[in-house]
Amino acid sequence: MKVIELRRKYVEFFEERGHKVMASASLVPDNDVTVLFTTAGMHPLIPYLLGERHPFGKRLVNIQKCVRTGDIDEVGDGSHHTYFEMLGNWSLGDYFKKESITMSLEFLTEVLNIPMKNLSVTVFEGDAEVARDTETYHLWKQVGLTDSQIYYYGRKENWWGPVGLTGPCGPDTEIFYDNGNKKCCVTCGPSCSCGKYVEIWNNVFMEYNKNQDGSYSPLKQKNVDTGMGLERILRVVNGKENDYETELFYPIIEKVEELTGVKYGKENERIFRIVSDHMRAAVFILGDEKEVVPTNSEQGYILRRIIRRTIRYIKLLGNNENILVEIADKIIDMYDNAYPELGDHRTFILEKLDKEYQSFSKSLVEGLKKAEKYFKGVSETKILNGELAFRLFDTFGFPIEFTEELAQEKGYSVDVIGFELKFKEHQEKSRIGASGRFNKNVAN
Ligand code: ALA
Repeated sequence: MKVIELRRKYVEFFEERGHKVMASASLVPDNDVTVLFTTAGMHPLIPYLLGERHPFGKRLVNIQKCVRTGDIDEVGDGSHHTYFEMLGNWSLGDYFKKESITMSLEFLTEVLNIPMKNLSVTVFEGDAEVARDTETYHLWKQVGLTDSQIYYYGRKENWWGPVGLTGPCGPDTEIFYDNGNKKCCVTCGPSCSCGKYVEIWNNVFMEYNKNQDGSYSPLKQKNVDTGMGLERILRVVNGKENDYETELFYPIIEKVEELTGVKYGKENERIFRIVSDHMRAAVFILGDEKEVVPTNSEQGYILRRIIRRTIRYIKLLGNNENILVEIADKIIDMYDNAYPELGDHRTFILEKLDKEYQSFSKSLVEGLKKAEKYFKGVSETKILNGELAFRLFDTFGFPIEFTEELAQEKGYSVDVIGFELKFKEHQEKSRIGASGRFNKNVAN
């Protein structure tokens, strides 16, 4: 199934069931200082989940551009991405668990023809604050799943939200595709990472608000918030092993092969995947209506970090040319049908990438040499102190996370707190305005 057809089928299915279609919001949230990027389709809907009336009504559907950098270290496996498209449908105080489960199952089994036997689901097992969600368990049984396809898990797996520190949240039920392989061990289940299960859809029953003091109170209305990763569902429907083999990524990988002369294979798949994932994220962030550019603060810092990481990984493929522009050009061609803002911003995107490459590529080589020297100097403690990490940042433009990654690859660590102190000292000296970017909470 082509991606264009999958997007259309999803939207039409929910439109036929009374949902109004919304355009994707910007990747940069409006009026939200707690999170830098839109991380889920529900993000722009927070006021409406809290009870405000939405101009389109109580049933909504869309495909939302999302960026999550919390999973950046997992990018390179088959199913984690910094940028992804989320298919979502919502009930704002309208239908609840039963309709949500019934519609999801119908879409998966009757529109996408996924056999019911290949589905497994997880349900919130309850804790001291919120009771076990037996209703959802029974609903899944009513629609035909067997006990062996339903798993109870705790808050870590089956609770979603809030996006920032406070806001709407609730227990969820996650739907997994089970490829039918044998369980890898006795405890193998949907949360296992052996590859048997792929999470495809999350249905959140948003009926709580998390308050400042950490307590939960019921929301004015019971909402449903769902999210399905387009990359994953496309891969499942087409029987591919991982997301990178779908049309959303493979042409990027082929472009990188062509430009570097290196073949994509088992031994370098992680590098190819990181490059294609990060380049796609960079293109979408630069192409967003809010025109984020690489800087040293907030969204611009995350963008810079993603681009600089890409430059390093391309170098690891043995290529020292500026191929960012050509890869980005390819990505724009692949996506501008669905996201015309990319085509509209083509020159802007390519110019900014070129500029970032020019400003970083030389210092990368020098900085890597210097880092090597610093690591040698601390070979006994295996901890790079804040002062040296700050020098790599200040002189060579190495984001702290970048230095941490270099250190990790050697089995070393970095004194990040010491780095932040040095950074603040420097800020005070040069009176640069503060930015909250080292706070992991705000960096998604
Ligand atoms: N907001 C939910 C998620 O992102 C659907 O998984």
